[in-house]
Amino acid sequence: MQSALREKLLEVFTQAQGEFVSGQKLSEAIGCSRTAIWKHIEDLRKEGYELEAVRRKGYRIMMKPEKVTSNEIQLGLATKYIGRTIHYEETVESTQKIAHRLSYDNVPEGTIVVADEQLSGRGRLDRTWHSPKFSGVWMSTILRPRIPLGQAPGLTLLAAVAVAQAIEDMTELEPEIKWPNDILINGKKTVGILTEMQAESDRINAIIIGIGINVNQSVEDFPEELREKATSLRIENGSTLNRAELIQAVLMKLEKLYEQFLSNGFYPIKLLWEAYAISIGKRIIASTLRGTITGYAKGITDDGVLMLEDDHGTVHYIHSADIEIER
Ligand code: BTN
Repeated sequence: MQSALREKLLEVFTQAQGEFVSGQKLSEAIGCSRTAIWKHIEDLRKEGYELEAVRRKGYRIMMKPEKVTSNEIQLGLATKYIGRTIHYEETVESTQKIAHRLSYDNVPEGTIVVADEQLSGRGRLDRTWHSPKFSGVWMSTILRPRIPLGQAPGLTLLAAVAVAQAIEDMTELEPEIKWPNDILINGKKTVGILTEMQAESDRINAIIIGIGINVNQSVEDFPEELREKATSLRIENGSTLNRAELIQAVLMKLEKLYEQFLSNGFYPIKLLWEAYAISIGKRIIASTLRGTITGYAKGITDDGVLMLEDDHGTVHYIHSADIEIER
């Protein structure tokens, strides 16, 4: 829906303060036909608005979807720098793309980019990430660690631990991590993390951690081809979650673990990660951009790189892959 039209329609409903507005009145206020109004109402419903339609009375708004604006996130956020600067937009192509641009503009460390919807959310290994409006956490965080390039993979795993801890704190669910940082609930993917780096020669300018959490989607909100392997916290937990509070929980965990990483290195984080890991000690199939390797997942190195021993006994050090556990 064109955003000017949408804003106008919402304004009329807000002025009506929950009372019915006739289709006739709406079409006059917006300047389009009653059929067009009906279509716009359907679009608003898809975005999470609850609208009641009653013959001869018209429409009234019952509930607006909650947005995750900067105010919502900052109120009660007890971090020192992560999430202190927030770039929020309702709809974006990809928060990751904006974060890259902001990072080149030298925004402070800990700046986050949050959106209620992504039109071309980016996933790992050149995939897309389905990011429907008002139902998930779509967020990118800019970090500027002064560490050697080789230690960067640890931050990918650290982010997964932060999200897993936040989910554990806010729900009764038991998150599991599939290397490097997919979070599964009851065997289905619920969180995806994309870590990207801006570096010049061997100096890191920024690490951008993109976190996508399926929060309040229902099964029907997922494209059919994803329903078997993806889920949301609401589907698994049985109740909706406040997305702004979940973001706060993730940011607090992220800052705490990041500080620990900067002072004590990756090892303490590795132990936490291993406690959630489901792929280690199993036979796995790793699909990399260069091909597939099958073998035994021996563990991760002290930098977070996966060690995979193939059937000839050769150990492969895998930095980036999609893995599947062999059954
Ligand atoms: C994956 O493939 O598992 C990673 C998905 C990462 C999705 C997040 S949503 C916020 C950020 N912006 C993007 O475009 N992608 C990441």
